[in-house]
Amino acid sequence: MTELSVCIGSACHLKGAYNVISTFQHLIEEKGLHDQIAFAAKFCTKQCHKPGVAVSLDGVKSVIAAEEARKFFHEQVLPAVEQAKG
Ligand code: FES
Repeated sequence: MTELSVCIGSACHLKGAYNVISTFQHLIEEKGLHDQIAFAAKFCTKQCHKPGVAVSLDGVKSVIAAEEARKFFHEQVLPAVEQAKG
């Protein structure tokens, strides 16, 4: 199971966390990955000072611009899901 989370703390909210969440939810739905991705919202993960919305993929933290959510999903999340399948 691939673990994906998005920060919904106030700083990330201002940087577009809501858009990142809805993009991820839409893609998970579209690709039928509910049973392969554990998706969650997290409170502040102490990355507020970085330029972007804080996300975590299998425990690896990074920040992404809201408009990069789709790209991040395709380039990072989908390969992680594939890898988790073995
Ligand atoms: S509000 Fe998202 S890292 Fe702090």
